[in-house]
Amino acid sequence: MTATTARITLHPDFRKGTIDRRIFGSFAEHLGRCIYTGLYEPGHPEADEHGFRQDVQELVRELGVPMVRYPGGNFVSNYVWEDAVGPVEQRKPFLDLAWRTIEPNLVGTDEFLQWAERMGVELMMAVNLGTRGVAEAVALVDYCNGEGGTYWSDLRIKHGREKPYGVTLWCLGNEMDGPWQIGHKDAHEYGRLAAEAGKAMKLVDPSIELIACGSSSMQMDTFGEWEQTVLTHTYDVVDHISMHAYYEEHDGDRASFLASGTAMSTFIDRVVATADSVGAKKRSDKKITISFDEWNVWYLETRFVGEKNLPIQKDAPRIIEDIYSGLDAVVVGDLLIALVNHADRVPLACFAQLVNVIAPIMTEPGGQAWRQPTFFPIATAAGLARGEVLDLRIAGDTYVSQRHGVVPTVTAAATIDADGNLALFLTNRSPEVSEVEISHVGAALALTEGKRMLADHEPAVHGPEHAAAVAQRFWGDIDITSTVAENGATTTRLRLEPESWTALVGRLTV
Ligand code: AHR
Repeated sequence: MTATTARITLHPDFRKGTIDRRIFGSFAEHLGRCIYTGLYEPGHPEADEHGFRQDVQELVRELGVPMVRYPGGNFVSNYVWEDAVGPVEQRKPFLDLAWRTIEPNLVGTDEFLQWAERMGVELMMAVNLGTRGVAEAVALVDYCNGEGGTYWSDLRIKHGREKPYGVTLWCLGNEMDGPWQIGHKDAHEYGRLAAEAGKAMKLVDPSIELIACGSSSMQMDTFGEWEQTVLTHTYDVVDHISMHAYYEEHDGDRASFLASGTAMSTFIDRVVATADSVGAKKRSDKKITISFDEWNVWYLETRFVGEKNLPIQKDAPRIIEDIYSGLDAVVVGDLLIALVNHADRVPLACFAQLVNVIAPIMTEPGGQAWRQPTFFPIATAAGLARGEVLDLRIAGDTYVSQRHGVVPTVTAAATIDADGNLALFLTNRSPEVSEVEISHVGAALALTEGKRMLADHEPAVHGPEHAAAVAQRFWGDIDITSTVAENGATTTRLRLEPESWTALVGRLTV
């Protein structure tokens, strides 16, 4: 087999900007078993006094999640948050139309916000702009953040929570461009409503940051036009625009699937260009940034029956519990590289979702909690990426992918902290070994240790035993002496395994 080659040029002085750790955020929706029997399962041997599973909490900590989006997703677009606060025995169950599931309302705003607080994670709350509007959104901000002296903030105090929660991040609805969304709107309708809701919410608490809904994917017919119109209405009031994208392998086309990070980069660049064009027209100095608040590998087209084909269910049904392979984990690692490289315009991102639902953490009711293969690149990148993102230059072999055109064989991103500690992330998308030359003229590079994930060729199987076997065979520490083929004063040569994701740490000093 012939090796492919790539050349990466880096220098500590060439930087893109500070990395916001919130790009390693996640998402917990009232969907399937994410909340019930995922995070929350009173009666489980590991449940704490609040009913939340401590084995799952341990894994969430290990994952390094700094922020969680809640309560949806599609769920939020028919959610009546007032029915899920106060005494639990008085709460009303309702039929969630998004996932056709009877929601018992046992976990609501207070339970979830207090869980997040105990975990030390920030909340990104979403308001319902599907079936509801300005008044209910304003009331929720007041309930969460008000100091007291108003009906809603006093109600929170009456429910036992004196101190305001201080929720900073607020999504103005969810995927309102999607015809599947309850209360779906066209761009003008949504843009006007989001502008008015956002204006009023900031009057309650001017310190909050607002996220307008962007497109549900780059494949939506309205993509581009949607962002243009929504931002024309909301530019002065919102801070971020959302992006959502899920990737999957189609018809065994591994090469395209492995290039998903390039598709994500293209999507980000297009949304940034559209946002900046609205800003330019408005002669505004303000820059709208991206909240990539749903991303992952999800076998949406190949494994999911579709929301409207779901039967009405209760008791936390198993919905979209995708099982992941080593290949999926390499793609997730590559998507993380794309996000890190856009840290200058993407301060917020959430891998969807946290537990059981297309998630890196799985549980069995009454049983174990375990890590899927995708857990490892997320935890590693979240643990290592620090400080500022380096502005790398990469030149090298490319290949033609059916879905995403010509793409690079090797992708990379790097961060450096104030002490010169470097984290370098690389994907080799090729089925061959890649010989990578790092040019670091004017700086010394010492790579000391690393981890890598290999793409497997095996179907993923549900269960903790299979996940552990995949981790053992395809994930682990690397032998740094065989990865660093040669370490010179100005160039360092690496050898990357075929179809692999690698994280290296070391020092880069002048
Ligand atoms: O993450 C699952 C679903 O995907 C979310 O509810 C929705 O926003 C998206 O379509």
